Amino acid sequence: MNDIAPVISVLGVGRVGSVLARAAVEAGYQVNAAASGGPADLELITSIVMPGAEPMWAADAVAAADIVVLALPLHRFATLDPTWFAGKIVVDAMNYWEPIDGRQEFFERDGLSSSEIVQQHLVSAAVVKTFNHLGYHQIEEDRRPAGAPDRRALGIAGDDAEALDLVTTFVDRIGFDPVVLGSLREGRSFQPGEPVFGTPLGRAEFTALVAQPAAA
Ligand SMILES: NC(=O)c1ccc[n+]([C@@H]2O[C@H](COP(=O)([O-])OP(=O)(O)OC[C@H]3O[C@@H](n4cnc5c(N)ncnc54)[C@H](OP(=O)(O)O)[C@@H]3O)[C@@H](O)[C@H]2O)c1
Repeated sequence: MNDIAPVISVLGVGRVGSVLARAAVEAGYQVNAAASGGPADLELITSIVMPGAEPMWAADAVAAADIVVLALPLHRFATLDPTWFAGKIVVDAMNYWEPIDGRQEFFERDGLSSSEIVQQHLVSAAVVKTFNHLGYHQIEEDRRPAGAPDRRALGIAGDDAEALDLVTTFVDRIGFDPVVLGSLREGRSFQPGEPVFGTPLGRAEFTALVAQPAAA
C-alpha cells in the first residue's frame, strides 16, 4: 500500500478489536492498538494476536490516527474525551444490545441510534457505522478478496462523504463488499435485531434488506 494510506488506531482490543487490528495489518495498514491500560500491558498480546500493530495509550493512538475504530464495551464509551477526536474519522463497531449491555441511559435519547449518540458525543469527528453487524469470528473467517463469489456484504453508514470514501476502501481491503448508506441514521438497519445483523449475506441480498444504499 502507498504512503498516504490512512493510519488506523483500534480502541479496544478484545474479541472484535483484536480481529480488526490483525485484519488491518494484513491489509497493509499501519495500525495502533489501545485498551484501558498502557502499552506495556499490551505488548505481549499484541505481538501474539496482532503482530505488526503498535501498542499505545488510547490518547496517543487517537492522536496518531486518521481512522479510529471504536471496539470497546458500550458502557465505557462515555468515558472517552471528545476533544481527542476532533477532525478524526471514527468507525463505530459498537452495538447497544440491551440484553447484553443492560440498560444504558447514555444511549437512551430521543429515539436516536447508538451511532448517532456516538456522533453527538464526538461532535468534531466524522462517525461511520460499520463492522458492528458481524460477529468477531465472522470478521476473522469471512474475509474474501474482491471478486470472490462468496464475498460477504458489509454495511457502512455515515453523513460525511470523505469519511465514507476512506472507510469504504478500508472495508474493501479488509475483505468485505461495502454497501454504503448515505446517512448515519440509516445505519439503524444493521443494528441488533435487524434482519442483516449476524446474517451472512452477499451484496444483492444485503442491499434488498437495508434502506436505500447509495450508488457504489
Ligand atoms: N464480540 C463480537 O462479536 C462483536 C461484534 C461486533 C461488534 N461488537 C461490539 O464491539 C464492542 C466490543 O466488544 P468485544 O466483544 O470485542 O468486547 P471485549 O472482548 O470485552 O473487549 C473490550 C476491549 O475494550 C477495551 N476497553 C475498555 N475500556 C476502554 C477504554 N476506555 N479505552 C480503550 N479500550 C477500552 C478493553 O480493554 P481492557 O481489558 O484493558 O479494559 C478490551 O480490550 C462492543 O460494543 C460490542 O457490542 C462485538
